[in-house]
Amino acid sequence: MITIRGLCHFFPDGTPGLDNIELDITKGEKTLLVGKNGSGKTLLMRHIAGLIEPQKGEILIDGLSPYSDTNARKKVGIVFQDADLQLVRHSVYDEIAFGPENMALPKSEIRDRVERTVSLLGLGHIIQRHPRSLSGGEKRRVSIASVLAMEPEYLFLDEPFANLDWPGILSVLDSIESVHKTGCTIVLISHDVLWIRKFVDTVVLMDKAKVIAKSSFEQIEDLLREHGVLPPKDMIGL
Ligand SMILES: Nc1ncnc2c1ncn2[C@@H]1O[C@H](COP(=O)(O)OP(=O)(O)OP(=O)(O)O)[C@@H](O)[C@H]1O
Ligand SMILES: [Mg+2]
Repeated sequence: MITIRGLCHFFPDGTPGLDNIELDITKGEKTLLVGKNGSGKTLLMRHIAGLIEPQKGEILIDGLSPYSDTNARKKVGIVFQDADLQLVRHSVYDEIAFGPENMALPKSEIRDRVERTVSLLGLGHIIQRHPRSLSGGEKRRVSIASVLAMEPEYLFLDEPFANLDWPGILSVLDSIESVHKTGCTIVLISHDVLWIRKFVDTVVLMDKAKVIAKSSFEQIEDLLREHGVLPPKDMIGL
C-alpha cells in the first residue's frame, strides 16, 4: 500500500505544486489519476518514485520512504510519457535487460527476467530490432517491458496511450492488463477518461495541486466535468 500524508511541494516562486496531498493507493488495484494540464499529476508521481524529497509530509510505500530507502524505490516502476527518451540501447533485448543489469543480478536471472517479460508482452518478434526503428506503439510496449523487467510491485504509467492509434492503444492496454494479472498494482495517468474508466477500479481527481476526490467513475462524473477532465455534456451529445 502507498500512503501519502500531508505532502506539500512549493516551487521557488512560492507556487504550490502539491498542496497537502492525502492519498492511499491500495495494493492490487488499478487507479486512474486524472486532472487538467498542470494539476500536479507528474509531480506527484515523481515524488512517489523517490526522485524528489518531500518538503513537507510523507510518502510511505509498504511502510518505507521511497526517497531514503532503496528497497521502497525498487518497488515502484515508472513508464514516463516520452517512450523515446527512455530507450537507450541498441536492441530491444538489451533495452529490456538494462534495468536488471543495473540491479547487478546474476546473468541467468537477467536472462530469465527478459524472457519472462518478452513472453508476457508478446515482444518475441522484435527482440533483435533497434528500438529507434520501432513504431510508436511498439516503443511504448518496449518501454513498459524495460520497467517491468525490474519486477516492480507498483507500476505507474504517465500518458501511455498518447499519440497511439486504436490498435496501438489496445495492444498497450492488453500489456497493462497482463501486468496487472501478475499481481502488480497499476496507476495510470491519462486524459482519455471516457473509455479508460471501464478498465480501472478507482479514479483520483487532481486540480490546482490538490487531490479533489477519489472514487468510482460513476460517483464523481459531475466533479470530473466541473474540473475540466470530461468534455461539456452538449459537446459529446450526452
Ligand atoms: N519551477 C517551477 N516554478 C513554478 N511552477 C512550476 C515549476 N515547475 C513546474 N511547475 C508547474 O507545476 C505544475 C504541475 O506540473 P505537472 O507536470 O505535475 O502537471 P501534470 O498534471 O502532469 O500536467 P500534464 O497533464 O500537462 O502532464 C504545472 O503547472 C507546472 O507549470
Ligand atoms: Mg504530466
